[in-house]
Amino acid sequence: KNRSVSNLRAAVICVLGHVDTGKTKILDKLRRTSVQAGEAGGITQQIGATNVPIENIKEQTKIVRGISQTEFRIPGLLIIDTPGHASFSNLRSRGSSLCDMAILVVDIMHGLEEQTIESLNLLKAKKTPFVVALNKIDRLYDWSTMSRKDVRDIISSQGPNTQNEFQTRTKQVILQFAEQGMNAALFYENPDPKTYVSLVPTSAITGEGMGNLLALLVTNCQSMLAKRLMFSEELQATVLEVKAITGLGTTIDCILVNGRLREGDTVVMATSDGGSIVTQIRSLLMPQPMKELRVKNDYIEHKEVVAAQGVKIAAKDLEKVIAGKILSVESGGVVCSGQPIISGLN
Ligand code: GTP
Ligand code: NA
Ligand code: MG
Repeated sequence: KNRSVSNLRAAVICVLGHVDTGKTKILDKLRRTSVQAGEAGGITQQIGATNVPIENIKEQTKIVRGISQTEFRIPGLLIIDTPGHASFSNLRSRGSSLCDMAILVVDIMHGLEEQTIESLNLLKAKKTPFVVALNKIDRLYDWSTMSRKDVRDIISSQGPNTQNEFQTRTKQVILQFAEQGMNAALFYENPDPKTYVSLVPTSAITGEGMGNLLALLVTNCQSMLAKRLMFSEELQATVLEVKAITGLGTTIDCILVNGRLREGDTVVMATSDGGSIVTQIRSLLMPQPMKELRVKNDYIEHKEVVAAQGVKIAAKDLEKVIAGKILSVESGGVVCSGQPIISGLN
């Protein structure tokens, strides 16, 4: 194996879509957690992040036909959950702007909705590749659940009425994408993955199609983004959320896309008063793999964190930090990585 291949970082994947299409539930199924059930009103109100190691992906894609021919070269996925509620467009923008690839979740019973189109436009503007999870297939008429199978086999095993409804609704969604100026096709009928977005039928309740979705993400990342995913020491980190945590004070949740952070590093961040702060990392905290960063966890303290990772930073003076801005590391008085933040100019 050559060095560059073994030096890929985890791909950052953002989950976007209209409210209640099942974004968080899909992640819950993948993580075997119940984050969605703990949300007020079942509505996501913050950006989340989950580190999914490649071992978990291998396990969950075993049922995918032809997967044995796939070599897994990325170390995992860092999945960003975003809210679908109309009022959180700033968070969708923040999530989508730092990802390598996205999952656009569409409820097969509803088709494209207002924030689906808003999300689509964010992805188009940044030219971010994405796949569509055509979710809630278990709600199709007379659906018969067959977990632990490739979704292509599950669909072809449904009764004729169910298959009809699936085809009709899928065609409708493809037409709606065409109205937005985009070619779309079921992933197993996609004539050209470079110009057609792939639709993967899924159910976050039964888990059907989830293996296919993960397999497609990994293969697309490896084929389309291999260069972009080469690990770089040049720090690239964004503040996702600023929050007070009992016992820790004000902390920031960050996405480290490239480079590394160490305990004791001097970091620089933009603040709401137009200036910036310089502070030292007191602790670098991460949840266990497969746990959501935004949910209060038994965080594990790390001396060093290497990209790509979601990480919580505890430090002094974080109260005025602005979410959505970059974080850089200062060494010997020089801002050596990320875009420099000059005090007073931001
Ligand atoms: P926001 O983050 O608030 O935008 O919503 P979301 O897209 O994260 O959706 P969420 O995971 O909160 O799911 C919304 C509702 O749809 C919940 O009641 C879920 O149980 C339900 N749901 C999600 N996925 C599926 C699915 O595949 N099938 C069925 N039947 N219900 C689902
Ligand atoms: Na919801
Ligand atoms: Mg959600």
